Amino acid sequence: MDKWWKQSTFYEIYIPSFMDGNGDGIGDFQGITSKLDYLKELGIDGIWLTPFYESPKVDNGYDISDYYKIDSDYGTMGDFETFIQEAHHRGIRVIADLVLNHTSSEHQWFQESKSSRNHPKRDWYIWRDEPNNWESFFGGSAWEYDKTTKQYYYHAFAREQVDLNWHNPEVKKAMFDVIKFWLDKGIDGFRLDVINFLKVNDSFLNNPFDEKKQEQIHLHDKDQEGILLLIEEIAKFVHQYPDKFLVGEVGSENLNILKQYSGNNKLDVVFNFNIGSIEEFDASQLYQQLVATEETYKECQIPTLFFSSHDMSRHISRFGNREDRAKLVATLMLTAKGIPFIYNGDEIGMRDWITDDINKMKDIQGITAYKLALKEGKSHDEALIIANEKSRDKSRTPMQWNGNTYAGFSTNEPWINVPAELHLAIMEDQQDDPNSLLSFYKKLLRLRKKHVALHAGNYEYLHYKDDIITFAKTKQSEKIVVVLNFSDEKKSIELKSQIHILLLTNKNISKEENVITLLSNEAIIYKEKIRICE
Ligand code: GLC
Repeated sequence: MDKWWKQSTFYEIYIPSFMDGNGDGIGDFQGITSKLDYLKELGIDGIWLTPFYESPKVDNGYDISDYYKIDSDYGTMGDFETFIQEAHHRGIRVIADLVLNHTSSEHQWFQESKSSRNHPKRDWYIWRDEPNNWESFFGGSAWEYDKTTKQYYYHAFAREQVDLNWHNPEVKKAMFDVIKFWLDKGIDGFRLDVINFLKVNDSFLNNPFDEKKQEQIHLHDKDQEGILLLIEEIAKFVHQYPDKFLVGEVGSENLNILKQYSGNNKLDVVFNFNIGSIEEFDASQLYQQLVATEETYKECQIPTLFFSSHDMSRHISRFGNREDRAKLVATLMLTAKGIPFIYNGDEIGMRDWITDDINKMKDIQGITAYKLALKEGKSHDEALIIANEKSRDKSRTPMQWNGNTYAGFSTNEPWINVPAELHLAIMEDQQDDPNSLLSFYKKLLRLRKKHVALHAGNYEYLHYKDDIITFAKTKQSEKIVVVLNFSDEKKSIELKSQIHILLLTNKNISKEENVITLLSNEAIIYKEKIRICE
């Protein structure tokens, strides 16, 4: 029997903005629990929860100050337990985001480490007399001077997110205890945050720059020697528990790096940013990445399929703000080979948001970009544009349930940059509309579940021509064909085989003999007649 996750569709919940259950303006466990019936009806199988541990939330919970506590903004341990029970009761699995690379600077471990050069926990973090040239991924130096002990500590992200020293076995032991605690609580697996950053090169050589001398190449601060062995240790520890799932955020769009982290003895899957981060609505690029992944991955490796997350611009906004395209991309995501991860709100076509007021920006990456731009002499307006480009607030607005609020936004007031009719088109309005994006997602998820060729099949072929991606997937005696027209024009194509049953289209194909005409951005899924030899 295949592992459960191989046939699952995951749904990412960005906790602070998903559903405010107690009216304090912040999403919480009570709120998520109240939406489990919606998620069941949508048809997803697993939830990925962004971090919910106690945190000062400089980076929205990716700065954990206590790994054993639920952040009080999100509820109590009791609320968490109820949520897990209720999710399991509906057959929905839950994976937790776990940040092993760094802790909050407010974590007790760091407070002890920074207290004196001789403290037993000094070596739990990375301290140096002099900084090197490594840059933080949020901008600026990755080293922060600490007055108390007159040394610098290393932080790959914000200065309040201090990198742990994974060369120290005590760190590993402490983190394995954390993993065990949450597995014992019934969590079904983890999304491991920036997992390829866990080891840095202890020679601390300076990083080189690209040819234009503008961007630093992160040669010595990620994907370092020993990281894969460490990954194997983590995977072995987690997989002692039967049926647990591990998805890694390997911060890279390079398929040759990504491929090293999943498969036998390693992580079950990693996020395929080589596919998911594609900026343009471009079928040929997408096709190239699908093929490259298929060719590069070994038999035991499965890719993931996603196009949005809490760190990215929403794909409907990236791809021209069009619902037909959103349906087309959803079709690809839920029928191609791979484990799909839907980002909350994509199923109702939520759009990116930008701000005209820097004081309303919450994301540390955007705020840091703003400050650095001003420092470099840019005007306020120029800095604001840069900040909006970098800021991940764009995809973190409150989920559009009627009246939901987060960070001072409400779904009942218009937002800048999002046309009022789209933003105010709350989820509840789509539920009863058979042509809505939400209804289309539901149909796709049902089809995926029903047809073994869709949820467990392999490609029989994967083609591209003239803006059309076509693939066939087979399993047992079933064969399903998917045709995706990425162009704005009508296209006629000759089918290799006969349509047996048309399962789904986002538009209205016409068909004569073996020639079908697809409307612009049309997606079709059909079942092929399998010839039985007599
Ligand atoms: C991951 C998270 C992102 C966070 C970063 C640092 O990339 O997805 O939101 O800022 O790690 O923890």
